[in-house]
Amino acid sequence: MNGPRVVLVGPMGVGKSTVGRLLAGRLRCGFRDTDEDIVAAHGRSVRDIFTEEGEPYFRDLEKRAVRDAVTGHGGVLALGGGAVLDASTRALLLRHPVVHLTVEHAEAMRRTGLDTPRPLLGDSPRRRWRELMEARRPLYAEVARVVVATDARSSDEVAEAVLDALGLRDA
Ligand code: S3P
Repeated sequence: MNGPRVVLVGPMGVGKSTVGRLLAGRLRCGFRDTDEDIVAAHGRSVRDIFTEEGEPYFRDLEKRAVRDAVTGHGGVLALGGGAVLDASTRALLLRHPVVHLTVEHAEAMRRTGLDTPRPLLGDSPRRRWRELMEARRPLYAEVARVVVATDARSSDEVAEAVLDALGLRDA
């Protein structure tokens, strides 16, 4: 097993799970999402783990979930938006086909606003999202082989752009 065929990173709300599932369909392989792995293993939502145990506890679970998935999954893998905060995770990702999905601020607000509650965005989601992105942009850049913008593209179009960017179209 050589690891995942595609690893998706990027901020919350960028569409990693949706695009990941489409890619898995196109590549005829499995899809895995580290947030889902954590929820399944611990029987609690990410939000509950964050509020009941705190962020450092969640990050520790996340680091292990990422390591298990990167070493044990051969399909498409989506990581939580903050997975790249961990230096050992970033080192591990350098050997894999990592795609950074990007989204502009206004579009991210529209998407996250309509979606499930995001524990990290709190009471000032606009400001918080900007702060998070400023801190994380260099970390996504460090691990990504390619960057794919999602603005003004449907999930299908994003999935096609990922296949092109990684040269997987004829795979
Ligand atoms: C987080 C992103 C979430 C989830 C948790 C923390 C982050 O995942 O892991 O709420 O730090 O950006 P998604 O990016 O899949 O929403």
